[in-house]
Parts: sequence; C-alpha cells; structure tokens
Amino acid sequence: MTKPLPAALSPARLQSLAVDHGTPLWVYDAATIRERAASLQGFDVVRFAQKACSNIHILKLLREAGVKVDSVSRGEILRALAAGYVPGGDDIVFTADLLDHATLATVVEHCIPVNAGSIDMLHQLGQASPGHAVWLRINPGFGHGHSHKTNTGGEHSKHGIWHADLGAALAAVREHGLHLVGLHMHIGSGVDYGHLAQVGQAMVGLVRETVAAGHDLHAISAGGGLSIPYREGDARIDVDHYFGLWDAARREAEGLVGHPLTLELEPGRYLVAESAVLLAEVRAVKNAGANRFVLVDAGFNELMRPAMYGSFHAMTLLPRDGVARPLQDTVVAGPLCESGDVFTQAAGGEVLTRELPEARVGDLLVIHDAGAYGASMSSNYNSRPLAAEVLVDGEASRLIRRRQTVEELLALEA
Ligand code: LLP
Repeated sequence: MTKPLPAALSPARLQSLAVDHGTPLWVYDAATIRERAASLQGFDVVRFAQKACSNIHILKLLREAGVKVDSVSRGEILRALAAGYVPGGDDIVFTADLLDHATLATVVEHCIPVNAGSIDMLHQLGQASPGHAVWLRINPGFGHGHSHKTNTGGEHSKHGIWHADLGAALAAVREHGLHLVGLHMHIGSGVDYGHLAQVGQAMVGLVRETVAAGHDLHAISAGGGLSIPYREGDARIDVDHYFGLWDAARREAEGLVGHPLTLELEPGRYLVAESAVLLAEVRAVKNAGANRFVLVDAGFNELMRPAMYGSFHAMTLLPRDGVARPLQDTVVAGPLCESGDVFTQAAGGEVLTRELPEARVGDLLVIHDAGAYGASMSSNYNSRPLAAEVLVDGEASRLIRRRQTVEELLALEA
C-alpha cells in the first residue's frame, strides 16, 4: 500500500499524459493547491515562498487563490510580476541575506519591500532608496529542519540578522529613514512541530525590544517550514492549532505596540508539495550482486531531493500491461553518469531498497509529493534539457512549461 495520489491524477490519466508529453514529466493538480491555500485562511496574509515551485502558471493559480508571494532573486521578482502580482504594494516581498547590484536596482525600480537578512542590506538599500519599506529577518538563535542543510536558525546558519544585533539593525533603519513594516523569522524547512511552536514566543521578545527602541511596526511573519507527510503514517500538521499559537503571540505583540498587527505565514512546501508527481519511464533493469536496479529516464537533475538530503518520496509503479506483479526489493536510479543518481538512498548516500512491483522496461514510475523543490531545483547536468510541466485542473490539463531542447542549451554557447 502506498500513499494515495490526488484524485485527479488517476493511473489512466498519468499514463495518457506520459504518452502525450513524453517523460520525464511533472504533473500538478490544481485542486490540491487550492485546497491547501484555503486551509490557511486564518492567517491575514499567506505568502508563497516561490522557490518551492516558481512556474508562472502555478503562481497565477496561487494569486487567484488569494496568496501573496515571496521572491528571493531578481528572477523570482520578474516571475511574480509576470504572474500578475502588482509592484509597489505588499504583493511581493524580496527576502535575502544580500543584495546584488541588479537586484537592488530592481527592488528600487518596482518599490518591492525588502526582508533584510543582513545589516549591510539595510545600508545599501537605505543609500539607494531612503524610506524604502523593510522587514527584518531575525535569526532567533535556534532552528530546525528535515536536514541540517535546511536548518536556517542558530549560529551555524548564514541566514537572518542575529537576534543580539536587532538593536544595530534598528539603528540602521532609523539612520536611513527606512519604513519598518515588520519582523520575520524562518527557522528552517521541514521543521518538527516542537521547534515551530517556539517561534511565536521568540517573536514576542523581539517585538518588545523593537518597541523599547522606539520603533513602530505593522506586521509579523511566522516564516514557512511546515512539514508534509512524505511517508505513509507521517502525521499531518494541524494548521488550525498552529494558527492558534501564532494568534496568541500576535495578541501579546499587539499589547506591546498598542494597535493591530498583520500576521503573515510564508509556506512553500505545504502549499505545493503534495500537488505534483514526477513521471519517469523504466528503461533498464539489472542486478548487481544482491541489488536489483530499476533505471528510469529521470535523474537527480530533475528531482534532487533524494541525492541532496536523502529525502524519501513515495513511489508507485504502473505496469505497462496493467497486470499486477509480485513485489520486489528495488533500487530506483536514474540515467546520470554519477553513482549518487539514486532515488532510494539515505542521507549519507547509502543505497536503500524499496518494495515495488517487479518493474519491466516500458513501465511508468510515479514519484509522489514532487511539487515542492522538484522542478524548481532541476538542473541541466549531463546536458539534459529541463522536463516539461503539465497542470491538471479537473477534466482539463495543459502544458505549463514545454520541454527545453538541447539546441536551446547549445545556443547559449554559440
Ligand atoms: N521562507 C524563507 C525565508 C525560506 O528560506 C524558505 C525556504 C521558506 C520560507 C519556505 O520553506 P518551506 O515552507 O517550503 O519549508 N530544498 C529544500 C528546502 C529548502 C528551503 C529553503 N527555504 C528541500 O527540498 O527540502
């Protein structure tokens, strides 16, 4: 028994999309994204961390669902604008720990509020654009993540302004006449609930310090980091309970500032991870000693998470002939010329097996929960073109990114 797929992504539909568009192929389900967005409506603002999935059509869908957007590069700002987000207000926030020259010019040109993760950013922005709207991203001194690579708090993290430097950051805000919108914390990605639950109280302490330094603010952001159940049996986060914790923190903070505060949440994974699958075709099957390898036409250049973090993604094998097969312990690997191109591996790179129906050439492998940090982390390694993306919306489906061609790759070097 494996994790169920979104209702609209039936085996027959996935098989037919693979025939129509080829593999590897990303397939997203619009209904899942809308449902996840609706589940967060307690928060005043839900701001999508688009690094999780930056396709313009997914951004449009989220915009239509009332979700705002976070951008972390000039490219992500231009994507947000292309998706119809409006510059000049608070539709788009730029979050980073540095400002390169081109991005600084872009945030100034489009009046995009900047969530600053370093004091240097405040000086550079203040000189270029006095009065610009800013958030302060604070590292509270603790963090957590599904991997140490996704923990963004504590002294080993490069992210955010260290909590003890809040006073210096506020002084820089004052020096340049910057407009302080709010305080922000994001302690990591794939965070356990115990750690997530501590952030609200840490925020109250920072608000107290900000007010004591004579500053006003209008909003607080809980950041993202909400986990999803990648494995069957993993608990699903109780978002209403989480909202309750933050709502209480917000009320305490409102008591300190003396007026209402907007409460923001900034999820990436939670909104999109479970909406999509990666489809790949089995192209070779072979044994190596005790291991049975099933090689598919998608690799870590498409879905990097298993190779990068040892992440687990549920898998479903759809036999080409539709006939049930006996289960086998299987190593699932890709086409890349690199031993780490294995979808079933531990965080240290150790090869693991997965019990799957006996795979044969021509079968379709469905990799679940690939909507977050899937397509957006893809690369052209081994000169492989980026795969196509399809969005399913009820009965309809449409290509939302065509497959890149090798000719397009080569043209950059012409
Ligand atoms: N806000 C900030 C400032 C962030 O840096 C991130 C993620 C988010 C929000 C959204 O976090 P989420 O809700 O998706 O956990 N590639 C890794 C995840 C890296 C996350 C980077 N920052 C993965 O595949 O698990």
